[in-house]
Amino acid sequence: MAIYAQNGLFQLNTRNTSYQFTADEHGVLVHTWYGARIPNESMAAGIWRQDVGFSPNPADAGADRAYSLDTLPQEVSCGGEGDFREPMLELTHPDGSTAADLRYQSHEVLPAAQSLPGLPALYGTGEEPGETLVVTLKDTASELYARLIYGVFPQQDIITRSVTLENRGTAPVTLERVLSLCLDLDGAFTLTAFCGRHAMERQPETVPVGRVKAEFGSVRGASSHQYNPAFLLCRPGTTETAGGCYGFCLAYSGNFLACAQADQMGRARVLLGIQPRQFRWELGPGAVFAAPQALLSYSGQGLERLSHNFHDVMREHLCRGPYKHAPRPLLINNWEATHFTFDRPQLLALARQAAALGIEMLVLDDGWFGKRDSDASGLGDWFPNEQKLGGTLGAFAADVRALGLKFGLWMEPEMVSEDSALYRAHPDWAVAIPGRAPARSRGQLVLDMTRADVRDYLFARLSAVLAEAKADYLKWDMNRSVCDAFSRALPAHRMGEFYHRFTLGTYELLERLLAAFPHLLIEGCSGGGGRFDAGMLYYTPQIWCSDNTDAIDRISIQYGTSFFYPACAVGAHVSACPNEQTQRTVPFSTRAAVAMGGTFGYELDPNTLTPQEREAMLAANADYRRWHDLVREGDAFRLAGPGGDTAAWAFAAKDKSRVLVTAVQLARRGYAAPPCLPLRGLDPAARYRCAALGQTHTGAAWMAGGITIKTLLPQYAAVQLLFEREA
Ligand code: GLA
Repeated sequence: MAIYAQNGLFQLNTRNTSYQFTADEHGVLVHTWYGARIPNESMAAGIWRQDVGFSPNPADAGADRAYSLDTLPQEVSCGGEGDFREPMLELTHPDGSTAADLRYQSHEVLPAAQSLPGLPALYGTGEEPGETLVVTLKDTASELYARLIYGVFPQQDIITRSVTLENRGTAPVTLERVLSLCLDLDGAFTLTAFCGRHAMERQPETVPVGRVKAEFGSVRGASSHQYNPAFLLCRPGTTETAGGCYGFCLAYSGNFLACAQADQMGRARVLLGIQPRQFRWELGPGAVFAAPQALLSYSGQGLERLSHNFHDVMREHLCRGPYKHAPRPLLINNWEATHFTFDRPQLLALARQAAALGIEMLVLDDGWFGKRDSDASGLGDWFPNEQKLGGTLGAFAADVRALGLKFGLWMEPEMVSEDSALYRAHPDWAVAIPGRAPARSRGQLVLDMTRADVRDYLFARLSAVLAEAKADYLKWDMNRSVCDAFSRALPAHRMGEFYHRFTLGTYELLERLLAAFPHLLIEGCSGGGGRFDAGMLYYTPQIWCSDNTDAIDRISIQYGTSFFYPACAVGAHVSACPNEQTQRTVPFSTRAAVAMGGTFGYELDPNTLTPQEREAMLAANADYRRWHDLVREGDAFRLAGPGGDTAAWAFAAKDKSRVLVTAVQLARRGYAAPPCLPLRGLDPAARYRCAALGQTHTGAAWMAGGITIKTLLPQYAAVQLLFEREA
């Protein structure tokens, strides 16, 4: 059993870590340990209690001035009861008061991972069912019950946390803040968040965790390009291969809040969950609210191990469907090749050439429906434009299939253009505040995904299109942030529920479509990587990583993405040069090497390739077929980050039989020595041959000495080296 729960001691054990808390004499859940694996033995001795001025003592502590909720490390904290730190939960009772004080009632241990209603969650498998601890707490002065739900995935060193709140009283309670995770940790840390903007997502940014709060999040209706709902907490000196570090990641695609702050005594409080700004949820009598799941991991061996934990658990216990472990179709997407301007002959010429070059699927991007010759109109009208397609969508897709290709389509279901039949028929379906003109973004409005009638309509329309096209793949886009939060279907006192209901609505529609089309591969997208999160990965096992397809920028975007998300989830394509976003020109082989750090595919017109580029594409496709199982299923190594002159990364088979190293020369300086790259992921005792370097050494020697590339590469050149274990 991974869970130990006896005599008020609760311990969750994974292969290398333990998470522990106790229910103390007052029924308060005191956090006592999260770190390296320990025996099932209370660590409560390490919890000091001392009288601290201005830190109040709960009534049931009597004359004990050393007992204060303000100084105890807690598993759950509510505002208003004498813990003045940032709370995990905040609510308003029917009498207007806001304090809550949750104390232990009971617990149960379940032999499997638990799902969350309407929300993504890690799931158990036959081999690894997971385990769950549920601790029920009750507010001392009301009928509010909290169930803290802890999941354990021992193999991947992953703990999950969530909470459900139940109102067993007779009047509604208003939830003002329901975060999924509260964790009080001793010691010094830095926090690394992954920040950015459209076309430059997930750039690591590190700050010390001190008394001035480190906080970030999203209020955009999606997890956002600007801040990813995942962050690292590192002990000083943590590197890729050494040091104690924690990772926290929210399986949620809507507004979120992440925060870490040292308290008056220097202990760090870590919080993660639904963004409280613009959130307010009325919990009626008998109602239950479920918070999204937070994923936690600890590594005592640096960031590489921490990333492997998240990659492994997401691949095994989060991504679903037939492509969970199967090779994804090698696709070509027409977006950067044609934008909105295409016709049937042009598309079929592109598809024919693609098929001849060994590509396996055509994805027809934006512009195939309604009146959609620019981004000013047509969204919502998911009816094929038969003029552009030269006939029905079904016939067009059949022609594509006749070339030996699979067929995929782009849609942006959550959106509507004012210039569309859908908007003219249902203006009230667009998100807008009555009396206020809603802000447009990319010229478009947002559909009210909180409404069941909107979702029903979308389900029927999308299903009809997918069925007509016999689509193998759907690119699900979302090309703006959500503001003017308001739903005509919600009463005024429930308007604070809009954003969370929007996310739940999107999840519900995705789930219905997956149930109706179980073989459909959905690729998530939000102007590239604006909704790249563990929530979406439950529905869409790959996500278009960024609208920036410049290989050099992509190195740093994919680097930042790699801390939490596995390469099999990273939508990455080779596009034409000069690059559309940066105007940079880099060799085709470099573009291919970088795209091979993700799902791999193309975003160009193969008819425009030079003979050399055609050769390079054929070579890249062959490499993809030889190597891509390492990328999809193996362990990822960040050998040299994008900050230096040479960036390098590697993917190693789980059995260490093969390791693929990719290096790209980002900058070349006068007389600089050729780089010596570190190498990891080999079996030290085995011998490995690198045919490209013409050398064979033991794994130990390769890893100690690294790889010296004898001559400095030209700027933007790439090398890919395969290390193969000798029999
Ligand atoms: C977004 C996507 C692109 C493309 C366009 C189409 O920006 O990220 O890949 O699909 O929309 O409008």
